[in-house]
Amino acid sequence: MVADFEDWREVVAEAVAILQDGGLVALPTETVYGLAADAFNAEAVAKIFEVKERPSFDPLIVHIGHKRDLELVAEVPEELEEVVDELIATYWPGPLTLVLPKKPSVPDLVTSGLDTVAVRLSSHEVMRAVAREMPIAAPSANRFGRISPTSADAVMAELAGKIPMVVDGGACRDGLESTIVAPEMTEKGPVLRLLRPGPISREDLRKIAKVIKPRKTKADHIEAPGQIESHYAPETPLILVDKPEDFVPEEGVKYGLLSYRGEGNGSLMEAIEWAHVEIMSPGKGKLAEGAVRLFYCLRNLDAAGVDVIVSESVSETGIGVAIMDRLRRAAATSKK
Ligand code: TXA
Ligand code: MG
Repeated sequence: MVADFEDWREVVAEAVAILQDGGLVALPTETVYGLAADAFNAEAVAKIFEVKERPSFDPLIVHIGHKRDLELVAEVPEELEEVVDELIATYWPGPLTLVLPKKPSVPDLVTSGLDTVAVRLSSHEVMRAVAREMPIAAPSANRFGRISPTSADAVMAELAGKIPMVVDGGACRDGLESTIVAPEMTEKGPVLRLLRPGPISREDLRKIAKVIKPRKTKADHIEAPGQIESHYAPETPLILVDKPEDFVPEEGVKYGLLSYRGEGNGSLMEAIEWAHVEIMSPGKGKLAEGAVRLFYCLRNLDAAGVDVIVSESVSETGIGVAIMDRLRRAAATSKK
């Protein structure tokens, strides 16, 4: 069922009832839609992996409904209290996920056996209202390795018939998954290990503490498993083009274009006769608009029946870092 945003209080009550009963519902957040289960109910959480067809048990993000609920699921080490408080005061509710030592009450299935848990407080009214009733484990509501859904329609395209309820909260405001950060203490003070770039940029985080890179891991290792390359991929092969002259079209191939602005220097718009074109930022929103529309455009290109998607690059500043991160992953998957 697709519930209407207009009467969301009733809808929230219905979603909560399904969740309390051990069922799954898809819920809107400001980043992407999440596939939600009661985080303290391991059997319900197991259903998430089944529905997503995940080959492995990746750790999931736990959504809470109040800042004070952090203590239900995580333990903030005393030495990190100050930096964590500042992150929370600045960015919660919002698209920032914190990786912290977990409370024993969180099932191992949620954290994949790690001793840390990823937690966030969404700014979307629906997710927040539901999470006030119980902590919610929710990965993005797509099947494994596919594009994250940024609308209820996209969730339906992924999961129709597999879950009892999709709450339609409109298009996602940010359109890209949350920034994931693990605060750590070093001799020189606290640092923020950036595990996944997202709507809260590196520049934003730097105002609070030094930002460091994730540890290098093998593709199947768990430290930052969301970083495995098969994530965020359209089914159609994707080529990421840096400079227009790098694109050399082949005879007889049907190309679709993912253009950043649809015009200007460095645009591929005029390069060839495209079979389908999607423009990330057709308005004046630039990078923020590009982020909001990225997954939507990729879904449309995937559905357009082209042989290859060619994507322009965007500048790697602010949320452009997260856009390029997702595009590189999509391109890397295509090469296999
Ligand atoms: O914006 C978002 O974060 C969305 C919405 C629904 O909240 N959720 C989302 O979940 O993107 P998912 O499961 O697609 O990605 C969760 C990411 C994965 O990359 C996972 O590896 C990482 O969080 N993660 C979860 N727990 C972790 C932990 N304890 N340590 C390191 N990374 C963790
Ligand atoms: Mg995901």
